Amino acid sequence: MAKEVEKQELTEVSEAQIAVHWKEEEYYQPSEKFKAQANMRDPRIFEQFTLDKFPDCFKAYADMLTWFEPYRTVLDTSDAPFWKWFAGGKINACYNCVDRNLAKYGNKAAFIFVAEPDKEPDVSITYQELYDRVNELAALLRGLGLKAGDRVTFHMPMVAELPITMLACARLGIIHSQVFGGFSGQACGSRIQDSGSRLLITMDSYWRNGTLVDHKANADIAVQTANELGQAVEKVLVWQRYPGKYSAKTPMVPGRDVFMNELLGQYKGQNVEPLALPSDGALFLMYSSGTTGKPKGAQHSIAGYLAYVTATSKWVLDIDPEDIYWCMADIGWITGHSYIVYGMYEGVPTFPDAGRPWRIAERLGVNIFHTAPTAIRMLRKLGPQEPRKYKYRFKSMTTVGEPIEPEAWRWYYDEVGKREAVITDTWWMTETGGFLCTTMPAIHAMKPGSCGPAAPGIHPVIYDETGAEILKGSGKAGNICIRNPWPGIMQTIWGDRDRYVKTYFGKYNKNPKSKDWRDWPFMCGDGAVQAADGYYRILGRIDDVINVAGHRLGTKEIESACLTVPEIAEAAVVPVQDELKGRVPEVYVAIKPGVQPSQAIVDRVIKAIEEVIGKIARPKRVYIVPDMPKTRSGKIMRRVLAAISNRRDVGDVTTLANPDVVEQIRIMVQGKDITTRREELPEDIAKFGQVE
Ligand code: WTA
Repeated sequence: MAKEVEKQELTEVSEAQIAVHWKEEEYYQPSEKFKAQANMRDPRIFEQFTLDKFPDCFKAYADMLTWFEPYRTVLDTSDAPFWKWFAGGKINACYNCVDRNLAKYGNKAAFIFVAEPDKEPDVSITYQELYDRVNELAALLRGLGLKAGDRVTFHMPMVAELPITMLACARLGIIHSQVFGGFSGQACGSRIQDSGSRLLITMDSYWRNGTLVDHKANADIAVQTANELGQAVEKVLVWQRYPGKYSAKTPMVPGRDVFMNELLGQYKGQNVEPLALPSDGALFLMYSSGTTGKPKGAQHSIAGYLAYVTATSKWVLDIDPEDIYWCMADIGWITGHSYIVYGMYEGVPTFPDAGRPWRIAERLGVNIFHTAPTAIRMLRKLGPQEPRKYKYRFKSMTTVGEPIEPEAWRWYYDEVGKREAVITDTWWMTETGGFLCTTMPAIHAMKPGSCGPAAPGIHPVIYDETGAEILKGSGKAGNICIRNPWPGIMQTIWGDRDRYVKTYFGKYNKNPKSKDWRDWPFMCGDGAVQAADGYYRILGRIDDVINVAGHRLGTKEIESACLTVPEIAEAAVVPVQDELKGRVPEVYVAIKPGVQPSQAIVDRVIKAIEEVIGKIARPKRVYIVPDMPKTRSGKIMRRVLAAISNRRDVGDVTTLANPDVVEQIRIMVQGKDITTRREELPEDIAKFGQVE
């Protein structure tokens, strides 16, 4: 009964939302100037990527790479849905990113590092220097006994040493797992354990918001956490933010911790041949949040992944050798892995003021700019007219990570792009390696708030709960899936084949034994609607994941962090709308009998979340409630809490085991008077916790 009501509500919500949002959005056309220079301007490209040409259409992507030995099969489906792209070949990712550029671009900057402190000079690293540094580091890693297939965890900030270390691993086939630098030591430790790394690579410190953070302290916690979970870390290699000087207070642990720069001395000038690795070997792991508390390591392949990001960088981001490309994402997230090539920046974009990005863009001559809605909202709020003061000129801009409001989009277009730059709204995720839906910037018109049609060779379909297709223009939302595999798709979840199959294919695969890719639509985990013109609008996650400022946080992870506080009996985390960050978590906790509610407990909960996950997961508010609203079978009704937190009506709660508590919590959060807002909840929040 309760389910029926919810279903009905959901349909009404999506239709109402579309009616409100949809009709006013107009198309914006790319300029003739942009079109004339674009890498991909032939609309017929899509004819080459129709499903009847699949999978051979993707040979064009593999051709963009340099191979040591050619591949034999475009797509090997023998172990479906564990796809092997371009199987049977030999290749090296580091060779493709570094070595093959030497002859032509040796003296050109590969990376430009901009430090957060304004006074520090930029550091420009040419391809030749990059080659030298990557080789020395590869020699060092080899010297430590690491070999292809071993895993190494990094917990690095945004510094040039990070891509250097990644590329050195790739040269030897060592699987790297970079944990976002802003995550806590504990979060890093559990990822070390899951990946089975014996080595942690970190940096002593880095700048953030004007403070030189002691980052080495996190390494000690990470190693301890991994140890407690049963994974011994033998060595911690510590880069120095200022080479030759130790910038952290935490002491080095003798025998375990080693300064990278000191060790590197032994490998000066050494070269390491890039290994000819199997094309379907693993390149890296990227941990991401899912429905359970355990983070999942998305495993990406060497050849398929590299081919996909190379092709999409060229065609969608429109990157050419003479461009200066700046992607604001942190390399610790998938966007940074896939789409950081030429530009780097250490700190926060609004430090010391909201004009900083535009000054940097002007000084470096940046012409391709890549950022996220949360940064766009923040820069707009703090300095709406700042971009006008600077003489940079962007030809193309990207937004990624969460849906962008048409208002914010228009500011990005008018002010940041100066009505000249095209915008690509690229929709994709950690698991997909590269873009799924986006406009092709010289071919399609832009529409604020929609990511656009699918990228070449990507064939989305929206299914309802029963597996029936939802047609375009119907105004109904559903679960967006991709009908076919593509080269950038993850290979598996590290160490958990079953979870991979269950999470991404469990709902819509009807024949688990099938070796035919047509039986395995990939469920992306987002709700979406497709307008009559074929453009997709993404509504947000459908699982228990909260997208905070474009970063995926698992509610279960946050809840288990709360339970590490001894006084807490139960915890429930829900997403709340936030003007800048999109969504932020709010926490409800019930305390154990006999314990008095107090501010101290609230503080301990916040501290626990920061320690277990990181400051990024800091909740907006923590409420100590007398009891959680529960179904008769004892399940916490997160949906009810989400409605309360977002100042909405809770709906019918009479079927709950304890309906009275709902009103108590409502008064605690919203006050005595009914002040709920009438406008509809965004779809992801409306659907939140519904599966229960
Ligand atoms: C969301 C980031 C709307 C989406 C690349 C997805 C977006 C999750 C967009 C993946 C976009 C990403 N429009 N929503 N352009 N891009 N998302 O794994 O909900 O960190 O499932 O990868 O971000 O986040 P992830």
